[in-house]
Amino acid sequence: MLQVHNHNELSAQVHEWKRQGLTIAFVPTMGNLHEGHLSLLRLGREQADKLVSSIFVNPLQFAPHEDLDNYPRTLEQDCKALMEHDCDLVYLPTDRDLYPQGLQQTTTVHVPDITEDFEGRFRPGHLDGVSTIVLKLFNLVQPNVAVFGKKDYQQWRMIEKMVQDLNLPIDVIAGETVRDPDGLAMSSRNQFLSVTERKTANQLQSLLVQAREKIRNGEVSAESICQQAAQQLQRRGFEVDYFDFCNRDTLAPLQGKSPAVLLAAARLGNTRLIDNIEVD
Ligand code: PAJ
Repeated sequence: MLQVHNHNELSAQVHEWKRQGLTIAFVPTMGNLHEGHLSLLRLGREQADKLVSSIFVNPLQFAPHEDLDNYPRTLEQDCKALMEHDCDLVYLPTDRDLYPQGLQQTTTVHVPDITEDFEGRFRPGHLDGVSTIVLKLFNLVQPNVAVFGKKDYQQWRMIEKMVQDLNLPIDVIAGETVRDPDGLAMSSRNQFLSVTERKTANQLQSLLVQAREKIRNGEVSAESICQQAAQQLQRRGFEVDYFDFCNRDTLAPLQGKSPAVLLAAARLGNTRLIDNIEVD
């Protein structure tokens, strides 16, 4: 596996593969790889001749008060896992390589509408930071296929829209959320939960599953089901940012009976958890 730290080196390798007529699948990450990331690598591996990943804790998508400095970094372990998954190249840029003029000076890209609510409301600037870095990485890696996790549902849908709106010649595919045995969606931030918090954490998914069942039964309005679920989370010690449902493709308020998704974000102590469930 090639380990590349600099965007010129990356471009040269990509250029060479393109010259040979080879296709590229790409899985961007922030590292601290767990089974969720690895499932995306396996998906990507099937899609193209070459598998490329990146590990970059992107400062542009963290607000000043957020956990950029504490974000878990486990580079050696991650590279071993990438090699075991037959990754051909990992891009490990420095901040300077991607933002040579600094964060304030860089051009950013904003994907409208789909980013207004949910994470966009509770983490202002975060999704712009994600769309900007992903577009930069797409320009450098020039993938035929890019793989994202449904765990970050709004992020995935936003990237789909960006690719469509900007006519990028990339197939965006999504992998299902990988969970611990008790249902908690795997996340690099789960390790910050205390033992007691960890025991409570799977309630987020349980309440999403329960809410989906209640919506399917159709006895009560989806709004009140979501409100009740948020209250139950609060009673169990969560601070709820949102527990809501929307159109699955556009994340706009639901009209009629289009396919929906329930989206939730809540904090347990200092750890913010997000999860979702699709509702037919
Ligand atoms: P990161 O949190 O490292 O996640 C990288 C990819 O793994 C994302 O597509 C995310 O949705 C997916 N993922 C995370 N947990 C998952 C799980 N339990 N099951 C399935 N997939 C999971 O998301 C980012 O990094 C960044 O925002 C990034 C896109 C790399 C841009 O900086």
